[in-house]
Amino acid sequence: MNTNIIDLPKHEGSTVTLQGWVYNIRESKGIKFLVLRDGSEFCQVVVSQQDVDEESWNIAEQLTQESSVKVTGKVVPNHRDRFPFEIQVQTLEVYQIVKDYPITHKEHGVDFLMNLRHLWLRTPRQWAIMRVRNRIIFAIHQFFQEQGFVQMDAPIFTGNACEGTSTLFETDYYGVPAYLSQSGQLYGEAMAMAMGKIYTFGPTFRAEKSQTRRHLSEFWMIEPEMAFYDLEMNMDLIESMLKYITQAVLKDCQTELKLLNRDTTKLQKLVEQPFIRMTYEEAVKLLKSDKSQELLQKDLDNAKTTTEALLQEQKTLQQEHGGAKKGRKAEIDRRMQEIHTQLKDLEESIRNIPQWMKSAKEFELGNDFGGSDETVITRHFEVPIMVHRYPHQVKAFYMKRDPKDSRWAMGVDVLAPEGYGEIVGGGERETDEQVLIQKIHEHNLPMSAFEWYLDLRRFGSVPHSGFGLGLERLVAYIAGLHHVRETIPFARHYNRLTP
Ligand code: 4AD
Ligand code: MG
Repeated sequence: MNTNIIDLPKHEGSTVTLQGWVYNIRESKGIKFLVLRDGSEFCQVVVSQQDVDEESWNIAEQLTQESSVKVTGKVVPNHRDRFPFEIQVQTLEVYQIVKDYPITHKEHGVDFLMNLRHLWLRTPRQWAIMRVRNRIIFAIHQFFQEQGFVQMDAPIFTGNACEGTSTLFETDYYGVPAYLSQSGQLYGEAMAMAMGKIYTFGPTFRAEKSQTRRHLSEFWMIEPEMAFYDLEMNMDLIESMLKYITQAVLKDCQTELKLLNRDTTKLQKLVEQPFIRMTYEEAVKLLKSDKSQELLQKDLDNAKTTTEALLQEQKTLQQEHGGAKKGRKAEIDRRMQEIHTQLKDLEESIRNIPQWMKSAKEFELGNDFGGSDETVITRHFEVPIMVHRYPHQVKAFYMKRDPKDSRWAMGVDVLAPEGYGEIVGGGERETDEQVLIQKIHEHNLPMSAFEWYLDLRRFGSVPHSGFGLGLERLVAYIAGLHHVRETIPFARHYNRLTP
């Protein structure tokens, strides 16, 4: 019977067979230390010349990175590595010896790795990210199913825009134009009038030419829609959903979060503390405040001091490198790589912060927030902020106006801390047919495409609300990743269609 690495703790002392790929090889005289991966985990596998037959040893001598193998051996504790068990090999068989695997253990650039995404997925970091993503997806289904929501699939080919006409992907649908769905919301509203509470979970498409760390052209969105929910109830639901998901990841993905160096105390705060709620008007005041300028100035000063210190350390390490022994050399190389990455981030901050300070100060009431404005607003808190009641001009046609002050739309954006920005957007929907017709005209949308949608306001119109959660942005935030491209197996963004 074959075993998975993840199950080794159950087999301490017995002999098992594993199948997998060689991730890494170290050797000393007569011994090969392999790191084997089988998808479930990574563990050390020790092949000792004196313990195996000649054929197994011959194979061991030929092994290369990513060669595929079958090993049989005894499960023993390993106190040095992250994974607490290893295999002492008795026999070794091979599926394939690999020649010239293109990804080595030295640092590669992101473009190079993205071009080899089909292979990059095999490394521990990507393995961890995909598992966090998987746990988040499962938690989302659990959360909504436990509360009686019905999952629905909205169409991908659509005849109408939902989130503005500037980001539509047009295709040819039997001779007429059709668009790849930007959002399943309008269909979700129809289904909510049939089922009460629904959620979609599907791919959505935006022709975004922006090359930011938050934008994909194809991303997965979860869109709940609830009959008889107002904006407050909507916000309560968003908050409890985000807490539920984060709690699930904290409980089940400790290994992955550790591999990703995620500071989990920050996630713990999200679970335990109430989110901040403020109006757009209050958020603008905060954005333009002296306190914002002070915090950013502090961040800028810190970035500069840290840069100095790292440059100094780099110099010292470079001097030591020449005369260092093999083990120490490897340690220095690792640290130098860390410093290199940190310096790149700091350089970006030092470049960006002065611009952020300027645009924060000059922000005008009535405009939509840009990515940097969101970063500044969230800089004041350690938990997500729900900003509600935006200027109606900057929001979609379907948003309900605030009955108390018609300048505002009853929309809410959830802004995540640590620079992640908007992860959820939603709100209460306009229920009045005539107001909607006017809005559709104002947005220059073709009325004919919305006839069916207006039926929802003609036949039993009720207050209702919903929101859209961007899966990749949530994964980036929870896993603590710099860019959304790593959160999805095969990213589609501006200038990327392969592999
Ligand atoms: O704010 P958005 O555009 O809202 C809607 O589409 C509504 N119809 C949702 C609703 O109320 N049912 O998008 C919702 C979320 C954003 O908050 C963001 O997390 C994500 O989708 N998102 C993107 N993620 C990655 N790349 C992009 N280009 C994204 N655009 C939006
Ligand atoms: Mg939005």
